[in-house]
Amino acid sequence: MTAQSYAMNDQSVNNAHVQLLFNEPGCCGMRIRDLSIFAKKKTILTVDELRFPNTGVVAIMGPSGSGKSTFLKAMSELMDENLTHKGKIDITCIDSANKSNKKPSSICSHFAMVWQKPTVFPCSIWDNLKVPLRKRKVARSQWRKLMEKALVDVGLMGELDNDWSKQRAQRLSGGQQQRLSIAMGLLKDSNIFLFDEPTSALDPISTEKIERIIRKLGQDKLVLLVTHSLGQAKRVSDYSAMFHNHEDKGALCEFSSSEEFFKSPASPQSREFIMQETGV
Ligand SMILES: Nc1ncnc2c1ncn2[C@@H]1O[C@H](COP(=O)(O)OP(=O)(O)O)[C@@H](O)[C@H]1O
Ligand SMILES: [Mg+2]
Repeated sequence: MTAQSYAMNDQSVNNAHVQLLFNEPGCCGMRIRDLSIFAKKKTILTVDELRFPNTGVVAIMGPSGSGKSTFLKAMSELMDENLTHKGKIDITCIDSANKSNKKPSSICSHFAMVWQKPTVFPCSIWDNLKVPLRKRKVARSQWRKLMEKALVDVGLMGELDNDWSKQRAQRLSGGQQQRLSIAMGLLKDSNIFLFDEPTSALDPISTEKIERIIRKLGQDKLVLLVTHSLGQAKRVSDYSAMFHNHEDKGALCEFSSSEEFFKSPASPQSREFIMQETGV
């Protein structure tokens, strides 16, 4: 299995508490090396090395401004105009799922991104769901079947009208719109799902539904979940990554299994973050 590399450049920081897990061949789904992200000339985030598994949920935590959202944007190359990055991203889990074995023209075509604010198109559910299918050149005769499966998988089917295809996506509740975004990611056939605080504007019932989907996605995909909620990280994640603000820029200070992270966080920054969030 060969990794697909997306070239960037060189720079390093010392991350004492970052465990480089997934050393066995075939275990590492994505490897980030010497990543630096800049806003004009200012460095806003550096990550020396970070390895993600092929499947599982990774919670990304840290104080505001520590670069969590920027990190996800760099992964998916959905960067703001005035941000640039250098470093190297090797993605193996995309390669192993890429049946044609061709390097995709754009890295972002393999990521599904779910933002804090629902981002559905102002048209019908059908027209939203057909976007990824058309991009993948799936035969039109397959569309309805695939769409209905995706709607069932995200638990939306039972909540929609019988003639769901004409329903306006933007008339759905916030939680339903988030689940429609996930359904679009499923139809994109993405192997990596990136979530940026997907439940921060949702009620507890909608949050629970999204968390259940995230756990299920993690069974056979890689999910990176930026979350402000320690409880959510504890409930859904297999691994935890902690970012912090260091010398006026964001940096990774810890990466470990979530079991270890919550039992005995290794870095002082994680201990302080957990203390502040839980008040203990
Ligand atoms: N487009 C941008 N231009 C300039 N600075 C940015 C831009 N996007 C993010 N930043 C800066 O990068 C830092 C990290 O931001 P962000 O990734 O949003 O943090 P977090 O998601 O952890 O709260 C912040 O200091 C923010 O102001
Ligand atoms: Mg953010």
